[in-house]
Amino acid sequence: MGIKPVTRSQNPGAIDNMYELKPNETEFLERCAEARKVALSFKNPLVIHHFDADGISSGAIVQTAFRNAGIKYRAKWIKKLDDKIIEEVHSEQEIIFCDLGGGNKRVNELSGDVLIIDHHQTEGVEKLQINPLLFGIDGGDELSSAGATFCIFRNDVDVAITGAVGDMQHPLKGMNRWVLEQGVQSGRVVIENDLRFYGRYSRPLLQFLLYSDDPYVPGISYNEEGAKKLIADCGINQKENGNEETARENWQKYGELNENEKRKIVSALAEILMRNGMANKAKTLVGESYVFPHREQGSETYEASEFSTLLNACGRHGKAEIGVRVCMNGDGKDTEAMMTAHSLLLHHRKMIRDGISFAKENVQDLGKFYFLDGRGKIDEGIIGIICGMWLHPMAKKPVLGVSDGEPAADGKPMIKISSRANRLLLAEGVNLGIAIKETCEGIAHGAIGGGHRIAAGASVPKEKINEFLTRMGESLDKQRKNE
Ligand code: C5P
Repeated sequence: MGIKPVTRSQNPGAIDNMYELKPNETEFLERCAEARKVALSFKNPLVIHHFDADGISSGAIVQTAFRNAGIKYRAKWIKKLDDKIIEEVHSEQEIIFCDLGGGNKRVNELSGDVLIIDHHQTEGVEKLQINPLLFGIDGGDELSSAGATFCIFRNDVDVAITGAVGDMQHPLKGMNRWVLEQGVQSGRVVIENDLRFYGRYSRPLLQFLLYSDDPYVPGISYNEEGAKKLIADCGINQKENGNEETARENWQKYGELNENEKRKIVSALAEILMRNGMANKAKTLVGESYVFPHREQGSETYEASEFSTLLNACGRHGKAEIGVRVCMNGDGKDTEAMMTAHSLLLHHRKMIRDGISFAKENVQDLGKFYFLDGRGKIDEGIIGIICGMWLHPMAKKPVLGVSDGEPAADGKPMIKISSRANRLLLAEGVNLGIAIKETCEGIAHGAIGGGHRIAAGASVPKEKINEFLTRMGESLDKQRKNE
């Protein structure tokens, strides 16, 4: 079989070609250095960050920088920067926004010193803003907010990479590659080429194989007997399969297997895919991932994609501050934060499993897009994740999910909307961030939304949902016809 894991013993994290900064990227870094001076001149800033993995990572990098510099700060995480928050922070003297701020012109009304670190689409913002998009760097694909924050403060490169992976920027390219290079050179990041399934270092081997469905492996994914047989056929001496509730140290994990055992597993999986006529899927089994040797092996902070899921679990379940503590705790001493984060992750996984089962049965084809009505079934915090997991990489239209949102400041019931596309659709001109923003502006009445080309969201008054769906369909149509 041509496909085998090339693990780090064979490729000790080397970057093949050193990343050469383009002139606009050099200019961006110069602007970051200026922003750093401004930030470190602050006396007691309020750090306001988004609650998803990239927002938590970005907020944590800023907070570590202040902690290291001995500067007092306060921090607050939010789900969205709406009028209510703008009014709340009106009298603050110094504010740093992370992963948001560029999308709401009302930041111009703030009277104190403001630094915005964002990578979302932005327009009409006059405050100091570090946003890759303003320098011709693709903020959706080539630098996340956490990456931009690293470019400013130059600490916690592992957290920066985790934020990027959490924002679907994997495999890292463009300016992200430069950040990665800083990580590799400092020894804080190792690139591995291995099986891309989730949980190489933190999941019991059996569940690692059982619950991985990207790609879906017939007879193994969601097939306990099949997965057990594959492990046995590879001659792997089982320690304990465990489940996610038993003591972690007893679990047999893929990451602990020797090279020979790993190779046997990858070859066996590839052979099954080939046998089932899925040769192109076999090629996607192995890919690049990023591990952090200074973090605890066997914990979810050891590998970027697992780490970002842990942070998402914290944020999406109302505990983004726990995610920040885990990020800021590279030495592993904050065991309380780590344990809380881990139990949130177990809860998160269960909700995602239930959400995916619901989506598989209930997604409707509405012509212009697929539609998932998750109201009363799927929590607003994870509707976007479910849409992203449900959408096939080859799907010909995006998916839109709705869920019960938090009521507006005046008590008006709101609907949370999440949309996801794939790279195929981006190539056809789909830009969900613009489509959602245009749609919300068309509706007005408190509808607010935005995001990236591949993932975007909104909050819309309940009575406007049908109008939203109609206008969104029209907007997507226009994009694909290049109007
Ligand atoms: O909430 P969800 O995961 O679907 O969000 C996808 C993207 O859309 C995120 O980057 C988020 O910041 C953005 N978004 C936004 N305004 C909203 C909701 C989401 O800009 N009201």
